[in-house]
Amino acid sequence: MFIEDPREHGLRFNPWKALVVPRPIGWISTLSADGIANLAPFSYFNAVADFPPMVMFAPIGPRPEGGQKDSWCNVLATQEFVVNLVSEPLAHPMNLSSEHLPPDADEFDHAGLEKAPCIKVRPPRVARAPVSLECRLVQALVLPTDAPPIQNNLVIGQVVGIHIADELLVDGQVAIDRYRPLARLGYFDFTVIERGFPLARPDLNPTEVAAELSALLPRGAAGAGPT
Ligand SMILES: Cc1cc2nc3c(=O)[nH]c(=O)nc-3n(C[C@H](O)[C@H](O)[C@H](O)COP(=O)(O)O)c2cc1C
Repeated sequence: MFIEDPREHGLRFNPWKALVVPRPIGWISTLSADGIANLAPFSYFNAVADFPPMVMFAPIGPRPEGGQKDSWCNVLATQEFVVNLVSEPLAHPMNLSSEHLPPDADEFDHAGLEKAPCIKVRPPRVARAPVSLECRLVQALVLPTDAPPIQNNLVIGQVVGIHIADELLVDGQVAIDRYRPLARLGYFDFTVIERGFPLARPDLNPTEVAAELSALLPRGAAGAGPT
């Protein structure tokens, strides 16, 4: 079949979100201008650059009761956010934190989650998250919409600090079977990534790539993998 507009698909449900999968989940913590903590999951989320590391997420508005999502408003107000990555045991609290609560509600409390302090930004991170990325806003974009009042917002942030739970590391590498990150499929489905397999790149030798990057970026690029 060929679909031009995913809203006119002729299927039982709109297939759009079931196609670009799995999408990692960025569980975004922010602080409001008044210092109230906010936490919400976003699967329109990914990493987009290495040097410096950058991430993006898309808080699409409006909220059901009007106004843009708290995560968007807070990032605009404070220029900072944290991306917490979600492992399988955090599926339920992550889902709870997606509830549309008023801006003065703290979703950490709502989901029964402990906060941990960050080092370079003010929003707290999720203490139990296997990985947390401390981020500063690079650009906030309002993308085109063809269904107002839907507003397609995009946040791009620079990662200024990375927390990794020590137990994820085996022989200096993040072990995917220990990490087991949760990811979003279509509809109301999720998956857990628990297995990887190596595939050598035809034109890239990992040792040469690392050496080239080290030469280009002497400070700390050694061992960097290909994009
Ligand atoms: C797994 C999951 C992924 C989600 N991804 C997005 C997303 O990419 N963009 C979005 O606008 N909302 C997404 N949502 C819904 C938001 O989490 C929800 O609207 C939340 O209440 C927003 O909170 P905020 O107003 O505190 O920012 C997702 C929800 C879940 C459970």
